[in-house]
Amino acid sequence: MARLGVNIDHIATLRQARRTFEPDPANAVGIVERAGAYGIVCHLREDRRHLNERDLRLVRELCKSHLNLELAASDEIIEIAREVGPDVCTLVPERREEVTTEGGLDVAGRLAALKKAVERLAPIPVSAFIAPVEEQVMASLDAGFTAVELHTGEYANARPGPERDERLARLAEGAETAAGVGLYVAAGHGLTYINVAPVVELGVFSEYNIGHSIIARAVFTGLEEAVREMALLVG
Ligand code: PXP
Repeated sequence: MARLGVNIDHIATLRQARRTFEPDPANAVGIVERAGAYGIVCHLREDRRHLNERDLRLVRELCKSHLNLELAASDEIIEIAREVGPDVCTLVPERREEVTTEGGLDVAGRLAALKKAVERLAPIPVSAFIAPVEEQVMASLDAGFTAVELHTGEYANARPGPERDERLARLAEGAETAAGVGLYVAAGHGLTYINVAPVVELGVFSEYNIGHSIIARAVFTGLEEAVREMALLVG
């Protein structure tokens, strides 16, 4: 059965829209866990646009399931990660001007720096958020990552039809290559209640990390129901 990681950044985004105290992302942890998710995912960005260190520390304390911390390979955030001790770290590219994480990490192009980041995070296992491209998969293995998360954004942005089918096939190929060399393989970004089914049907991913669509639905259904519905779709 595949696992669902629920990204709770968007709860903090809503709080930050008013720079107030609610909604508090820490309050989501127990609800998400009760609803059947495998774990919590959150991203401490260098610009702290949603989650801050106080949130991360509280989430770590409250999370009894599995905490996946997304971070850029920056010295400051790596230091915080080492101190807080998530169950897994996912290295992502980060640009201040982007609305969300736009592309995959160029592991092949930054092999030495990323290898160092993985070593500094040890013994925390580290996943690389990459495009479904063989070169990036093999570079991730070389850099010491034990897992990859394939960026599903290109697939998610395509309309149903030949272009989307082709992007889906690329995801399947990337996942098979990664699993074939012993990497744990997750998928994430832009997945929704509607577009997740064809990805799940591939049967190649061990985990799905989903945020925006779940939090958006939670506005209408409540978080527990929203997570439960997504867990049913991916599991
Ligand atoms: N996985 C990674 C590595 C991400 O950076 C994000 C976005 O923060 C997600 C998954 C979740 O993406 P979405 O919010 O589009 O579901």
